[in-house]
Amino acid sequence: MYSTGNRITWLQGPGANCAGTGPVPPRPWHFVLLGPPGVGKGTQAEQIIAEYGACHLSTGDVFRYAAHDTSGQAPSPAMAVALAAMKRGELVSDATVVELVRERAQCLACRYGFLLDGFPRTLEQAHALDGILARIGRPLDAAINYFAPESLIIERLSGRRVCQQCRTGYHVANKPPRVSGRCDACGGELIQREDDKPEAIRTRLRAYAATCDPVLEYYRRQGLLREIDASSDPKAVFVHTRDVIQKLNRAVSS
Ligand code: AP5
Repeated sequence: MYSTGNRITWLQGPGANCAGTGPVPPRPWHFVLLGPPGVGKGTQAEQIIAEYGACHLSTGDVFRYAAHDTSGQAPSPAMAVALAAMKRGELVSDATVVELVRERAQCLACRYGFLLDGFPRTLEQAHALDGILARIGRPLDAAINYFAPESLIIERLSGRRVCQQCRTGYHVANKPPRVSGRCDACGGELIQREDDKPEAIRTRLRAYAATCDPVLEYYRRQGLLREIDASSDPKAVFVHTRDVIQKLNRAVSS
């Protein structure tokens, strides 16, 4: 059983050093997780990490970390624009996201491997990622795309709650906390993300639909795309995720 460390280098950027993250997996995987908002990428990422190691690198988490920065420093002008876009459910500009990932290239070179979650979201970001990975010599093993009907996604997003302190995720019906409104892990208050409100959910789904096809096609052409139906419960979806990883493992070892 592995666990992601504090990911502080990813969340804060260069200059911050991650604490030790436990045993190094024998095979560091390099995956991007694709799929619409709320399909369950973060939920699958937790299980992939527990079983296979790898560090969870979510671009959304970097923005949320900046939004809740308690250092008293005002966000940079580019970050302030990004946070306003995110709150409305819109995509942040390619230039801002690519810069943020480029600054954190050391995380992509990490010996634990990585699960990039929410990046790339556009073809331009996919090209930029290839450039970064080529420079550091860490080719992608696969792009795993999760899909589910829109009605299910809306139900998942509107019921999601996150701990204000440790960011652990819950769902009011599918994954309720033991005590209503309180985090099982740290007792923190559970809140609804600003972009999980109905208007922002609609905007996010539209933004995803407008940019996803070229990205999927890009990875399909390279033979890297793996598709997983994410409409069943998280454990059942993980059976398919594990199957994909085991097939990749067999291909690498043969
Ligand atoms: P980001 O944080 O990446 O959000 P997202 O893609 O909208 O995806 P989520 O994290 O909301 O959903 P998820 O698929 O991880 O679902 P989860 O596992 O939590 O990005 C946020 C914003 O940042 C963007 O809108 C944009 O503004 C900006 N941004 C980030 N990256 C960007 C980029 N590259 N370019 C431009 N802008 C960028 O699951 C959801 C809920 O469902 C949970 O409550 C969970 O418990 C439940 N659930 C999960 N799986 C199941 C299941 N199988 N059955 C039942 N319930 C389930």
